[in-house]
Amino acid sequence: MSNFGRAILAGAALVAGISVTSSLMAHGNVTPQAVDTSALPKLGADWLPKNPYTGNAKAIEVGASAYNQNCARCHGLEAISGGIAPDLRYLELGESGDEWFMERFRKGASHDGKVYMPAFGDVLGQEAGWAIRSWLETKHEE
Ligand code: HEC
Repeated sequence: MSNFGRAILAGAALVAGISVTSSLMAHGNVTPQAVDTSALPKLGADWLPKNPYTGNAKAIEVGASAYNQNCARCHGLEAISGGIAPDLRYLELGESGDEWFMERFRKGASHDGKVYMPAFGDVLGQEAGWAIRSWLETKHEE
């Protein structure tokens, strides 16, 4: 093969390599995106059993953006599920809904060793979790 032919083959392999990597990043990227919670009251190290931010306008605003960056790709824009993951508008309101929400937010969900939802708790922290919950409460449907 001519040197020119080799160069073309090498170039094609490089292009293929790049496109595989970028499509993996587009679809498989589940790295939690940092959430700026500096405008919200601090909640301390212990995870609270119920949402302390319900109705807090700032928390709702922070939560909307945190949801879009971390949850929407599976749970759907505006919390309207496209069917990949449960529709979070129907999560129960109040303390038992809060508990279930936080269980999933902190630990994620796995079955038979497969991760269906990554854990967010340690990475994003409870301020971000309750902010998302506060925004979801505004989208609630019976
Ligand atoms: C990679 C996809 C994915 C991402 C990202 C994701 N989830 Fe999930 N989530 C799921 C799946 C799938 C389930 C159902 C798990 C099961 O059936 O055990 C689920 C379940 C839940 C549940 C329980 C719902 C119910 O009706 O039982 C809550 C609450 C939840 N997710 C919140 C969130 C929040 C908040 C975020 C963002 C911080 C998030 N999820 C990000 C896939 C995801």
